[in-house]
Amino acid sequence: MNTELYDDETFTPEEKEIPSRKAFGKLMPLLKDHVGGLVLCLIMLIGATALSLYWPILMKRAIDVNITGGDFDGLLITVLIIAGIQCLTIVFQFVQRIKLEIIGQNVMLKLKKRLFDHILKLNISYFDKNPVGRLMARVENDTEALRMLFTNTVVLVVGDILLVTGIYAVMFYYSWRLALVLFCIIPIFLTLTYIFQRKTTPHFLEVRKKMAEVTAKVTEFLHGMSIIQIFHRGEYARRKIDVANRLKFTEDRYVNIAVVLYFNTVFCFEYIMIALVLYLGVLWIQSGHITVGMISMFIILIWRSFEPIYRTSEQLANIQKAIAGAKRIFALLSQDDYMKDSEKPAEWNGLKDSIKFENVWFSYTGDDNWVLKDVSFEIKVGKRVALAGVTGGGKTTIISLLLRYYDPQKGRITLDGIDVRDIPRDVLRKRFALVLQDILLFPDTVKANIALDEPGVTDERVVQAAKIVEADHFIRRLPNGYDTEVSEKGANFSRGERQLLSFARALVTNPDILLLDEATSSVDPETERAIQESLRKLMKGRTSLIIAHRLSTILDVDEILVIRRGEIIERGTHTDLILQNGYYSKLFHLQFKNKNGVLKDAG
Ligand SMILES: Nc1ncnc2c1ncn2[C@@H]1O[C@H](COP(=O)(O)OP(=O)(O)O)[C@@H](O)[C@H]1O
Ligand SMILES: [Mg+2]
Repeated sequence: MNTELYDDETFTPEEKEIPSRKAFGKLMPLLKDHVGGLVLCLIMLIGATALSLYWPILMKRAIDVNITGGDFDGLLITVLIIAGIQCLTIVFQFVQRIKLEIIGQNVMLKLKKRLFDHILKLNISYFDKNPVGRLMARVENDTEALRMLFTNTVVLVVGDILLVTGIYAVMFYYSWRLALVLFCIIPIFLTLTYIFQRKTTPHFLEVRKKMAEVTAKVTEFLHGMSIIQIFHRGEYARRKIDVANRLKFTEDRYVNIAVVLYFNTVFCFEYIMIALVLYLGVLWIQSGHITVGMISMFIILIWRSFEPIYRTSEQLANIQKAIAGAKRIFALLSQDDYMKDSEKPAEWNGLKDSIKFENVWFSYTGDDNWVLKDVSFEIKVGKRVALAGVTGGGKTTIISLLLRYYDPQKGRITLDGIDVRDIPRDVLRKRFALVLQDILLFPDTVKANIALDEPGVTDERVVQAAKIVEADHFIRRLPNGYDTEVSEKGANFSRGERQLLSFARALVTNPDILLLDEATSSVDPETERAIQESLRKLMKGRTSLIIAHRLSTILDVDEILVIRRGEIIERGTHTDLILQNGYYSKLFHLQFKNKNGVLKDAG
């Protein structure tokens, strides 16, 4: 039995609802274009199976006719035919494998494309609920499991069914008595197998669960290795993993004993059958029902009829895996949590008057956990507004709502009086430049990371943008300049350099509104100066909404909104707020006073 771990055994609640039949039903249309190829494969499979049944018959002939009759020329011919048949079987199998593999690759390519297209259209909130790892498993492992099922398991199972049916047909044809005796043993054997399956399946699941736990723990500790070493937590990690391992092994031992027991039983059955053939065969040779050749043919056929059983256990695990994979894939495909645009989109192309939040209430969970409570403010075109306050206040959420990653439950957000819900998302987002707190760089060239495949962005435009935000000189110092590859998560750039790249990216389309969630971490003074300078240029002439952690950014904005627990509790210019001597003033004195002028604690 295969105890291999499923990569992701968890289903989200909505995924459970898809029955296997329906899941596979949805796979069928993908096969539509390949009917011809599939029929060819089936013919090849039947051919290969039939041929592989033919050589035991030839064996019988060799013994009964050639050897018994002393016809050694005839024996040579029979042996040559057997060899020829083997070669032909191999050719059939080869053609069938290759053909099916190609079809399988094609189908999975289509499926992966469909999955990815689908994921791209899903609402942002779907990704809050479903971690990236799980989606990765859907696109990669589940499709792979399906492909394996298709190119391997199905063939083996169909082939095995054909084989066993063929074997008994041949047996009955040559000696129905002997075949009948053997046939009667099958139900006993199947019953035993059934009982074994029933008893062990829960334990197999348990082993897999325990194995997943061990893997999860090891991954967790490996990710946190630096923390573990800094805090000398090696012993702690070792103990935790040791316990998980022990639990797994206890369960494993039971399963292993059961498996050994089962296969030995199967073994016994195989030899009981062979013994029966020998005994009855010899008995019946005298009465003329059976020949020596037939006995050897029966023995070969019995051996062959057990091959599928030794294989099946492994196939069962693959089938289960693929069924689970198919269900998850189609559950994902039937998710219609799409970002939908308004049926009657409004005309809006660029900000002319103002951005307005009107009594906006918002909760991520859709219940009474309000993250924003009755938030109202206005940004006149060309003005700069800053959001200030400690982590978790709801500042980033405000930006997410403005860009319609989420929609508020109450109240509305308008641009020039038009509800953002009536503006198509791509029109909306084109007008905004967004610089996020977490800067995400893709594994591609620096140039591509700035241009982001935006139509109409030329290389000159990229360089121009980089120059404005003071990124040009450090990019030029890179080994391949603008064509330097960015490594995973931008690890080959400093924090400050990544920030400058993200500014260039924001600027490259020359949008009219800037949304900026400043990075919190402090950088060296030289980079700090560069960032300040480019920020100033970035904001110039643009309506801006800034989550500011830098003193210098905040000082000269037109209005500061102080957010605390989802509410705007103070508003005004920096001077106003300091004079008010309220929350902002306290925050300012407590936290803005560190050397870099960066509010450390803000999110
Ligand atoms: N995707 C999300 N799903 C659920 N809760 C979230 C999500 N993003 C943020 N929150 C919660 O909303 C609150 C406000 O978060 P955020 O807007 O990021 O605050 P800030 O940017 O001011 O630090 C926090 O309590 C945070 O835990
Ligand atoms: Mg934030």
